[in-house]
Amino acid sequence: MQRILVTGGAGFIGSNFVRLAVANTDRHITVLDALTYAGDRATLAELPPDRVAFAHGNVADADLVDRLVADTDTVVHFAAESHNDNSLRDPSPFLTTNLIGTYTLLEAVRRHGVRLHHISTDEVYGDLELDDPERFTEATAYNPSSPYSATKAGSDLLVRAWVRSFGVQATISNCSNNYGPWQHIEKFIPRQITNVLDGRRPKLYGAGLNVRDWIHVDDHNSAVLTILERGESGETYLIGADGEVDNKTVIETILRLMGEPADAYDHVTDRAGHDLRYAIDSTKLRTELGWQPRFSDFEAGLAATIDWYRTHESWWRPRKEAIEAAYAKAGQ
Ligand code: NAD
Ligand code: TYD
Repeated sequence: MQRILVTGGAGFIGSNFVRLAVANTDRHITVLDALTYAGDRATLAELPPDRVAFAHGNVADADLVDRLVADTDTVVHFAAESHNDNSLRDPSPFLTTNLIGTYTLLEAVRRHGVRLHHISTDEVYGDLELDDPERFTEATAYNPSSPYSATKAGSDLLVRAWVRSFGVQATISNCSNNYGPWQHIEKFIPRQITNVLDGRRPKLYGAGLNVRDWIHVDDHNSAVLTILERGESGETYLIGADGEVDNKTVIETILRLMGEPADAYDHVTDRAGHDLRYAIDSTKLRTELGWQPRFSDFEAGLAATIDWYRTHESWWRPRKEAIEAAYAKAGQ
């Protein structure tokens, strides 16, 4: 049986990937996760123990990573510090995990001849104007804005260098903003849903004209499975589902779906360096690898996500107070 090592598999996208891979492949999966504030074993509950193993540890721990990589066929690298606002408060863990962690993995896959798929973000490209007819493609120049996106850009460039200079077998994907179950409530959509469930008002940064290109997490992960099956080493694939919506509309839609007045939210301090718009052109992935998204109705996906947070209150409730206290300190 083929073996996959999934780093960051106890986080939002990684845990949904593990579930999808268990359901749709016969591969054995080992999760490597440091269980930071963003990781939780609960995200992996009820998965069959004969298919999924768990290793608690840091992706920057060279000895541990070497042992795990020696025993696998493919690595899928999700582990990262992932939140822009945190990177503005304290960039340091972003450098360690996103840069040193990726470097550590690259050295291990190089030693053992193991294939790597590196998970990245469209934020490496910086932002677009609201009226720009162009979208990001694989040829767009890197121009990251925040410590988060700068370290993700650096990690992508390390992967490219290890492919070119050392012949490492690797692919990269850059995906747009994900939503769905198990997303940490520091992030935009689950923060607003849990605010409403908790009797708090949603919080919109600035005027809220910023546009994000939303994709359901299962569509992101089905694209990753497609790249694992048919992607070509050395190639980068952009993943997106044509889901551009501005933040103000997202908040108003959440309020409407939850039976609240559409204007029952607060404008709060804008994010420093706030990227205006992200938009992905995923033609290469669709035409070369034949991938298609399944979740084309954003409002239906949002309604299902709201239901999920309603029925998983015991998971998010214990962290809500501390998250809101940290945001309040920053005027957000
Ligand atoms: P997340 O913060 O929910 O999960 C990150 C996981 O990595 C957690 O389980 C955490 O414990 C683990 N981790 C952190 N540091 C680690 C370390 N040093 N060693 C081992 N494990 C560590 O993040 P997410 O939203 O699931 O994002 C996963 C990946 O997808 C990231 O690489 C991110 O850059 C990328 N991405 C995210 C989005 C998005 O919308 N969330 C979009 C595109 C790409
Ligand atoms: P976020 O989920 O942090 O993702 P990213 O920074 O990777 O795009 O934020 C999505 C958008 O929502 C971004 O434009 C910032 C905005 N935002 C708010 O307006 N209010 C909030 O409470 C948060 C967390 C984000």
